[in-house]
Amino acid sequence: MHKPTQAVHSGTQQQPLGGLNTPIYADSAYPYLDHDQVRYPRYFNTPNQLAVVEKIAALEQAEDGILCASGLAATSSTLQAHLNSGDQLVVAHGIYGGSDDMCRQQLPRLGIEVTHAPPDAESLLTACQDNARMIYCETPCNPRLQVIDLELLCSQAKARGIMVVIDNTFATPVLQNPIPMGADLVVHSATKYIGGHSDICAGMVLGSSELVAPVRELALRLGGSVNAQIAALLERSIKTLAIRVERQCQNAMSVAKVLEQHPLVESVDYPGLPSHPQHQLAKRQMLDFGGMLSFQVKPPLTAERVERKLKLITSAVSLGGVESICCQPILTSHARVPIEESARQGIDQQLLRVSIGIEHADDLIADLLQALEQA
Ligand SMILES: Cc1ncc(COP(=O)(O)O)c(C=O)c1O
Repeated sequence: MHKPTQAVHSGTQQQPLGGLNTPIYADSAYPYLDHDQVRYPRYFNTPNQLAVVEKIAALEQAEDGILCASGLAATSSTLQAHLNSGDQLVVAHGIYGGSDDMCRQQLPRLGIEVTHAPPDAESLLTACQDNARMIYCETPCNPRLQVIDLELLCSQAKARGIMVVIDNTFATPVLQNPIPMGADLVVHSATKYIGGHSDICAGMVLGSSELVAPVRELALRLGGSVNAQIAALLERSIKTLAIRVERQCQNAMSVAKVLEQHPLVESVDYPGLPSHPQHQLAKRQMLDFGGMLSFQVKPPLTAERVERKLKLITSAVSLGGVESICCQPILTSHARVPIEESARQGIDQQLLRVSIGIEHADDLIADLLQALEQA
């Protein structure tokens, strides 16, 4: 089936009355058949949780998965389940600041050696030493939208016995599937495109049953699960994921083209632009280029001055909703990254990140143009 069809139909749990939607099973207590078969929300196996997992697993071409309380719960459970004291973890520069903070502050306390490398396959592989156990990255990567060659990264890592875990939040399961390209596990902040309406916090881990099992075990001990009402809202959101993302991609391309021509804009980061350094790779690896873009304004203009003049596009943290929002990564998503590291990546006072929504593109363009002119 095609992705929009999977998004609508896969995963729906049987309705006793034959209705079209999974009923909301609000129960936290279920009878058990035997001691190995206990159903309980914190065990990640209640019907509404499973409906969401089946939908996203179908879209990601994954065998198994779990629905967690947040994107960071998904990432931290995955990394801690598969890494042991003495292992090296190689992470890409620029990953979401909260994930980066967890890697810098929490994992070393468990004896895990964390190495940062630029977000490209060659650099990530070169950073791996003999004790390398895992490479963790996003593509497109936060917030400068670099694209990493997944087939190259995964094939070479596999040859050296190193796991690859991809945060696929920016790309979404309808535009890019790292697992068939060789990744071991995929994580998502379902708070973003999967939820899509800026009203849910959740996360997901997807992969083979063998690799998801230890993550489920640890997540169960840590206790970050999602209740039935949230899962049901997510299931409803996923039905429109493909159509929302299609519109977000069209809008982002229109906005990126206009910004790139603007005399007050220094540069635009959007994988769909032919000027993007990995445009050809993005074309090969993704079905479309996504709804996220960043741009740098020319001094003496600053991102803050432009942001203050925006009327329709709200300044807010998060991304992936139906409404367009923008943020200064240096103050929000990447505020916890050491300042000298951010400076090296061009995450500075000039940079604005925009999550493009499903409004009419002309209205978004008009708002950005008036803000640039008024700033
Ligand atoms: C790419 C990416 N991954 C993971 C996360 C963490 O997700 P959550 O806020 O749902 O914990 C975020 C949050 O902004 C993100 O942008």
